[in-house]
Amino acid sequence: MLEDVREVLITSEAIQARIVELGRQISADYAGKRPVLIGVLKGAAMFMMDLIRAMDIPVEVDFMAVSSYGASTHTSGVVRILKDLDASIEGRHALIVEDIVDTGLTLKYITENLIVRQPASLRICALLDKAENRRVNIPVDYVGFVIPNKFVIGYGLDYGEIYRNLGFIGVLKPEKYEE
Ligand code: PRP
Repeated sequence: MLEDVREVLITSEAIQARIVELGRQISADYAGKRPVLIGVLKGAAMFMMDLIRAMDIPVEVDFMAVSSYGASTHTSGVVRILKDLDASIEGRHALIVEDIVDTGLTLKYITENLIVRQPASLRICALLDKAENRRVNIPVDYVGFVIPNKFVIGYGLDYGEIYRNLGFIGVLKPEKYEE
């Protein structure tokens, strides 16, 4: 797996240090509340688990599974819900946890879908923000790292369903992916 990586963009240590900061900030912002963190499978699973361990307030976790990319490296813009939340978020403070915001199309769909369920509040936390690639305006409340417009893998992010278990964020060698 490692031989397929062209460059390490964000080391495992840098990711973990940033998550500690995010955990502190989110815990302070939600002090006295019990937010429900909504992880967007599959990419955000690893980030979600590390983020909640960096928080010191009571939290609930739930997951949604959506698919927008399929096997391609480019978004189709068509989002499908593969798994919905287990519980209602009506009246709850909901925080969406994403691994990456790229075009923003996935989060636009998810936020529009969740807001009609009438949560008390709805915010977004994303580990990675590919800001220059945004196609729709989505306010991301908590951002781990702003990254350049490169196809990234690792720490939850896949190419062809592999590389999710790398501890760092990396860029694949170009010969490793077919467009
Ligand atoms: C990735 C990522 C986001 C979305 C971001 O999911 O986890 O949900 O793409 O892209 P966008 O801002 O351009 O919409 P993907 O569909 O690859 O599924 P996965 O998390 O299961 O790998």
